[in-house]
Amino acid sequence: MSQPILTTSNGAPVDNNLNSITAGNPGPILLQDFHLIDKLSHFDRERIPERVVHAKGAGAHGYFEVVNADLPKWCRAKFLNKVGKRTPIFTRFSTVGGEKGSADSERDPRGFAVKFYTEEGNWDMVGNNTPVFFIRDPSKFPDFIHTQKRNPQTNLKDPNAFWDFASLTPESTHQFTVLFSDRGTPKSYRHMDGFSSHTLKWVNQQGKQYWVKLHFKTETGIQNWNAEEAGKLAGSDPDSATRDLFETIANGGEPAWKVYIQLMEYDDAFKYRFDPFDVTKVWSHKDYPLIPIGRMVLNRNPENYFAEVEQAAFSPSHLVPGIEPSLDKMLQGRLFSYPDTHRHRLGVNYQQIPINCPYAVKGGLKNYQRDGQMAVNGNGGKGPNYHPNSFGGPEVLPEAGIAKYNISGVVGRQKYQHPNDDFVQPGDLYRLMDEGAKSRLVSNIVGHMKGVSVREIQLRAINNFYRADKDYGTRIAKGLGIDINDVIKSNAKSNL
Ligand code: HEM
Repeated sequence: MSQPILTTSNGAPVDNNLNSITAGNPGPILLQDFHLIDKLSHFDRERIPERVVHAKGAGAHGYFEVVNADLPKWCRAKFLNKVGKRTPIFTRFSTVGGEKGSADSERDPRGFAVKFYTEEGNWDMVGNNTPVFFIRDPSKFPDFIHTQKRNPQTNLKDPNAFWDFASLTPESTHQFTVLFSDRGTPKSYRHMDGFSSHTLKWVNQQGKQYWVKLHFKTETGIQNWNAEEAGKLAGSDPDSATRDLFETIANGGEPAWKVYIQLMEYDDAFKYRFDPFDVTKVWSHKDYPLIPIGRMVLNRNPENYFAEVEQAAFSPSHLVPGIEPSLDKMLQGRLFSYPDTHRHRLGVNYQQIPINCPYAVKGGLKNYQRDGQMAVNGNGGKGPNYHPNSFGGPEVLPEAGIAKYNISGVVGRQKYQHPNDDFVQPGDLYRLMDEGAKSRLVSNIVGHMKGVSVREIQLRAINNFYRADKDYGTRIAKGLGIDINDVIKSNAKSNL
């Protein structure tokens, strides 16, 4: 087999890759050994910052296929305009709190991020495997994440911080109920559903606006580890979900999800019994049944993990005409945070990296952004670098603009004003579970809360679960050897 010639980074043939150039033998190494210095200094810079959250992940390529002819009635995005139309996608799954080398089976939400390479630009659906989230204001996100990471002194995970914040944040009761249920430890990335979690806005060709939530239902079927299995696996095969995804596809498997929406008329949002923009809530499926819209299939592994998975940069603000943000404050905060972190993690030209490049757009990426680190796509060549101009530079497309809508009210730092009962939905979820699922949920919470050394925090946390359902709270208290009357008497205040 004829092999290619090894080259230096400037493309010259390498004469010897095993011995550095020395003066004498042995002897000091000469500065003129460019190949050695280039090799070592490139190695020294191999690591880029890992994602501050969702650092451990796996990804695959595939396609999204439209199955519903009614879609143009609700959304003018061109990739949705015909049954059978296929759009290439790249999907990355992840855990959230752990570092890049952490175990796939840890109890955590799972990230579910899909990049759609549409002819009108890339649309990123950056969701989770849970329909809700822990908080509903972006200003709480850094604090929340700090409580899931390591203690500043011990560098250990910190149950006091975890439950202190959780107990002071009653809106998190719903997501903690999901997290400590069986669904907190999915068997693999194929064995879980995905959700936009947030409400998005869809706009049709006539400018009519709808509110939409997306659901991805696994065709493999939901399967979860129990706490003991997940714990054992973390030691014996910390990369279990990464391995499962890669090997399934390498062996010809095609993991697939049926994609649905819940669709709400624009005006209904302001009359619904929950705030539909509050990401700690679900919309009732009775009120807003699932409508099938498509199918997501993963059928191709990355050729190179770093190039395609580590450098993938998703953002809820990567939108296309017809898909717009809603009034969800969390989503609004995320619109800023993701491109900001990408500029830090990958550089200002992160959209030029092939995995992020909107390659399905005719003519490719065209704008007046110039220079910056790693401008590798020709940097606009000799074309004008300002707009407007008289030299044939790219022009705007006014009809791509957002749909107009009315806003009025007071400017200020305000809580969600809707009657946001934080305990009805987690209580309903608990009551829906069979006895086995309830006792595993309680035992998972008790197991974790045992590490809390401050009694006040335990009482306050139990009180939230008690307010969701008396039986739920009472059983947790019992598991911790606490009299529920002490919880009730303490009436621990969590409504900050
Ligand atoms: C990743 C911020 C809430 C899903 C990230 C990253 C940041 C971030 C900085 C790292 C991105 C990177 O380095 O590539 C935030 C903020 C939030 C928030 C500020 C709230 C204000 C959420 C919610 C969801 C979510 C509610 C799901 C519904 C994800 C996913 C990833 C991610 C899936 C990983 C994307 C990938 O695979 O590269 N988030 N996040 N995040 N976030 Fe969030």
